[in-house]
Amino acid sequence: MTDTPDWNAYEAEAAAAAQAAASSDDLEEARVRFLGRKSDIALGLREVRDRETGMLLNGVRTRLEETFDTRAARLADDELDRRLRDEIVDVTLPGDELPLGHLHPITQIRRMVEDAFLGLGYEVRDDREVETVEYNFDKLAFLPTHSARSPRDTFFFDPNHVLRTETSPSQIHIMEEKEPPLYMVSIGRVYRRDAITATRYPIFHQFEGLAVDRGLTLADLKGTLLHVMRALYGPERKVRFRTHYFPFTEPSIEPDVSCGICLGSGCRTCKYSGWIEMGGAGMVDPTVLANVGLDPEEWSGFAFGCGLERTAQLRHDIPDIRALWEGDLRVLRQF
Ligand code: PHE
Repeated sequence: MTDTPDWNAYEAEAAAAAQAAASSDDLEEARVRFLGRKSDIALGLREVRDRETGMLLNGVRTRLEETFDTRAARLADDELDRRLRDEIVDVTLPGDELPLGHLHPITQIRRMVEDAFLGLGYEVRDDREVETVEYNFDKLAFLPTHSARSPRDTFFFDPNHVLRTETSPSQIHIMEEKEPPLYMVSIGRVYRRDAITATRYPIFHQFEGLAVDRGLTLADLKGTLLHVMRALYGPERKVRFRTHYFPFTEPSIEPDVSCGICLGSGCRTCKYSGWIEMGGAGMVDPTVLANVGLDPEEWSGFAFGCGLERTAQLRHDIPDIRALWEGDLRVLRQF
């Protein structure tokens, strides 16, 4: 060593560095610098030749070691305090609330329909939405000139494939797959080239019922529809039939359910008739039974189809069908 360092200044500088250290890591750095194996004081001690300098340097080193130890204990305390404060877990706090959704009104109606028919012993089906012309029209005895066969009314992929326009093809599928007696309800989406308005949407849902057994009559159809309408709308409801035409039923009818808002006396919802149209129905046409290889002399059947959106609108008094497709939570949360 050429010049003798000023050990008082060294001690003061080291003590100040210890106090200034804001973390254990900082402090450790300062300790290495001022007390480590290569620090001035360690080197100085190695050079010591006389007792007086030795005592001086040992004194400086001992005091500095104490200063660093004290500071280290203080920093460790502070750090522990901080962690205890920051990482505290209060197990008595209420948990974070998980936002819980609910089923879309169409899904709710679908499940009600399923329940009503399962209670009658019907099987629930879900068939394909892309249909062949054969199943959507031909086997259901649509005449070649029927307007639904036009691409103006129906979405065609190619001349043989359409987006099904109704759930009625399910009638053909189940009759081809299984032997009667058959009791089924098929629920799902159907597609028509309609402009979007308050009452029409090009995608909607239908439920389609079919029963094939020996000796079924219109009275069985009426009793079944009465049961289902009461399950959907309440025990006071009545059902009536009006004559109509469908290619695959004979006779064909349109069922009405008594209006639940005015209880039959006439209001805006039922257009002052006391009755609300519920879809289509009828006895399975013998031609359709023959198309699937069933003997119309032995077997008879009835079928019906209703829209789920319409059911939801009536149950919940929803004036505009578009509300069921827009996904606006302010609307959907009400049901
Ligand atoms: N598929 C017909 C429609 O969508 C309804 C219907 C179903 C009619 C079953 C008779 C029998 O309009």
